[in-house]
Amino acid sequence: MKQTPNLLAVIVWTKIEKEGVCVSKLIIAGRQRLGGTAAVQGAKNSALPILAATVLTKGESVLYHCPDLSDVDASLQILRYLGCKAQRSGSTVLVQSDGVCRHDIPDELMRKTRSSIVFLGAVLAAAGRARLSFPGGCEIGLRPIDLHLKALRQMGAIVRERHGWLDCRAPHGLRGAEIALPFPSVGATEDIMLAAATANGVTTVTNAAREPEITDLADYLNKCGARIHGAGESTIVIDGVKTLGGCDHAIIPDRIVAATLIACAAVTNSEITLKGVIHSHLGAVLPVFEDAGCSFSAFENELRVIPPAGGRLRPMKIVRTMPYPGFPTDAQAPLLAAATVAGGTTVFIENIFENRYRHTAELVRMGADIKTEGKFAVVDGVDRLYGAAVEATDLRGAAALVAAGLCAEGMTEVSGVKYLERGYENFELVLSQLGADIHKV
Ligand code: UD1
Repeated sequence: MKQTPNLLAVIVWTKIEKEGVCVSKLIIAGRQRLGGTAAVQGAKNSALPILAATVLTKGESVLYHCPDLSDVDASLQILRYLGCKAQRSGSTVLVQSDGVCRHDIPDELMRKTRSSIVFLGAVLAAAGRARLSFPGGCEIGLRPIDLHLKALRQMGAIVRERHGWLDCRAPHGLRGAEIALPFPSVGATEDIMLAAATANGVTTVTNAAREPEITDLADYLNKCGARIHGAGESTIVIDGVKTLGGCDHAIIPDRIVAATLIACAAVTNSEITLKGVIHSHLGAVLPVFEDAGCSFSAFENELRVIPPAGGRLRPMKIVRTMPYPGFPTDAQAPLLAAATVAGGTTVFIENIFENRYRHTAELVRMGADIKTEGKFAVVDGVDRLYGAAVEATDLRGAAALVAAGLCAEGMTEVSGVKYLERGYENFELVLSQLGADIHKV
């Protein structure tokens, strides 16, 4: 007999109670058609560096459309520890900063989000010293920070790395420098912008990252009084100013959440509308879904996703992840979930992170046909996925498992929900409002 989702939820809950384990899981009854409209949350990857930037300011910043995520919450905790007032009211975050009163960030706060490394440049510039624990690797790769440190040294910082801690000092302040990045690292570009905004002189970054979140950070800083030119292009010029004030700023929409929702519509053969989208930010994403047979109609900040006329997705041939404006590595996992049910073979080449196929083993448990080797994944589309108990081990992999669960036959139980919650605000609610049968237990 087919179990109803609620019955399954009760069974899982009873099991959790009996075994004394308290973890969240998502229970998805697959093959429900989605429909309707979903608003896209603010971008996590904009919110995090902008929150770090507030330590450079003296005054009040009001950040609208700030997503309510565990990673954002960790940044708010760091801000409070550093002596700023930071509070949330709905999707608005208010930060009152009068310069920082300390220069260290404890290990337990650093570990709450890998992105806390972006506080390095900001705290160093604001306090003349920054002492924080080394971020180390994470679920998706080694994630070195050599480019951040080399740039800060060029700007006059003295950097010591001991016993897992980074101690950076700039006793005479930071100075402008000519920094040529060997790779357009997003985090390094942000750290340099934060360090350079109030440095003495002009900093030029060549081969800078061009992601929309870089432009959003520059927009925020410029509203606060910084002089940053060229954000969004390969060369960024930062003319250091003496002081920065606060400002009101609306965080841009999250293009990766938009891409994930498109993948969810694509796998369920559904027509949905996304509200609050900047179409140009999806420049590399939409053509790949068009290759798969989806079509889009764009109107102002809305995007209607229309599934393939024949129902089944076509294979997408080769998908290469690249720095922006190329196809984003963060959208690889949700797209790969869609490729598992396409009518043919799609090859993925992951060029950004070395360990970004961990979700594929779980998708295989659901009946997907995927072979991976190094940066390659070959996905042979199957007629259908089957629900299974799967475990997420990273943020975007978690989103891929949810997308797969939405189109699988039967029940899918996704554990490791804490990863999803780092980047997707109330995702199960967003999906259930679109008609998915999904519950958190
Ligand atoms: C940011 C995003 C992340 C996204 C990634 C790539 C945030 C909070 N996170 O991460 O979601 O997947 O960009 O678009 O914005 N590298 C080095 N040395 C360094 C720095 C980076 O070798 O000093 C390498 C990394 O190991 C990786 C590649 O460069 O292989 C890209 O990293 P980077 O662009 O820095 O990504 P993050 O800023 O960590």
